[in-house]
Amino acid sequence: MPEFTRVADVSEIADPGKMLVEVDGDVVALFHVEGRFYAIDDVCTHDGGPLVDGELTGYKIACPRHGAKFDIRTGAALSMPAVRPTRSHLVKVEDGVVWVALGSGSGSTPGPNNQAADFRSYLPTNTAASASEATASAPDASVGSPALAPSTPGTAGTSPAAETATNEAGIPSEEAVREWLKEVKDPELFVNIVDLGLIYGVTLSPSADAPGKHHVAIDMTMTSPACPAGPQLIADTKRTVSSRDSIAAVEVRIVMDPPWTPDRMTDAARDQLGIF
Ligand code: FES
Repeated sequence: MPEFTRVADVSEIADPGKMLVEVDGDVVALFHVEGRFYAIDDVCTHDGGPLVDGELTGYKIACPRHGAKFDIRTGAALSMPAVRPTRSHLVKVEDGVVWVALGSGSGSTPGPNNQAADFRSYLPTNTAASASEATASAPDASVGSPALAPSTPGTAGTSPAAETATNEAGIPSEEAVREWLKEVKDPELFVNIVDLGLIYGVTLSPSADAPGKHHVAIDMTMTSPACPAGPQLIADTKRTVSSRDSIAAVEVRIVMDPPWTPDRMTDAARDQLGIF
């Protein structure tokens, strides 16, 4: 039997409106839309943004930090850069008082006055994986990372011409390196890091230590400063590029300025994610 906590009087929250409430020590965003109340965690699953501070449009709340949208009825993540639902909670209204009981999690517990919907029905099918379904982390990531699905270097569709392209001095071209980097995929989105717009620059120079080979410096960003896939993406990037015979060393420099935005994605990435 769920334990309900009294959180507000109906008259305290406009329609449409939103307010922050506390339930058993958890901070919950409470919404009032078209006569019904909805409650979800006040936490954006992209990078912890406070959802209640965002713009409410119909049943969608936009995270004020990077713009991810969530369905207030279910907690479903509706748009990038969030791909996981935030928890939704049970809500009841009795005698002009709103009560909330913490749900069992992951947007799967719509409240009794909700219009129930499965969060996965809102997600493009290729983004519906969760970290809990994934199995491995990068072996050589520089900092700890949660268990995430490995990307698959060496298997993606690399253009043969770009793969082997060199400039007049016989140095692999930047285009070639970018083609190699398309083998590195975000473990949750399954989109390669080039099409996601994470690669800001590629610089090649002759290796001082290995004659005939080259040093590659890659300026790379993340979708957020605390991106959980970051260590794995860095490790996969190094492994993928350094596996080429012509490469002696790979340096990955993380650049957070300018910050990544969804505008940096290619049309191919948008198509793959179902974003129009
Ligand atoms: S923290 Fe919410 S979109 Fe980034």
